[in-house]
Amino acid sequence: MSYEKTKLALNQAVADLSVMSALIHQIHWYMRGEDFLSLHPKMDEYRDAVEAQLDETSERLITIGGAPWSTLTEFSENSKIKMEPGIYGIDTKKRFAEFVAALEYLDDMYKKGIVVADAEDDYVTSDIFHDGLAWVEKTIWMVQAELGLAPGI
Ligand SMILES: [Fe+2]
Repeated sequence: MSYEKTKLALNQAVADLSVMSALIHQIHWYMRGEDFLSLHPKMDEYRDAVEAQLDETSERLITIGGAPWSTLTEFSENSKIKMEPGIYGIDTKKRFAEFVAALEYLDDMYKKGIVVADAEDDYVTSDIFHDGLAWVEKTIWMVQAELGLAPGI
């Protein structure tokens, strides 16, 4: 069985998770104000989870004969998550709404990846994407709860 479309889906995840990691780092670094002492370290926790997914995704791509994107230029050009230069003074609630929007994008990316991997009988990749999707949806719930909102999944 050829995994050609699955390889593309995995590389899309590589690019998106790389930019997501940078976005979380930016929120972590530029955060000021209310709840800083609890939310600043929380971003490290989220970033660790994203980095773990990134490594798993990339190494699955290598396992099935693919070549993961690995430069900052490739990540930036291929990810659908777009970032602006960091500035101080943006309300944390606004940054978290941006974080949720990126998580919602990842939710869709993982769902599309599952359909592609299942169609090519790549159950291992499908499993990795399912795990990523579960983390994304749980994190949407938690961040939305912090904002006083329902998950909206
Ligand atoms: Fe830090």
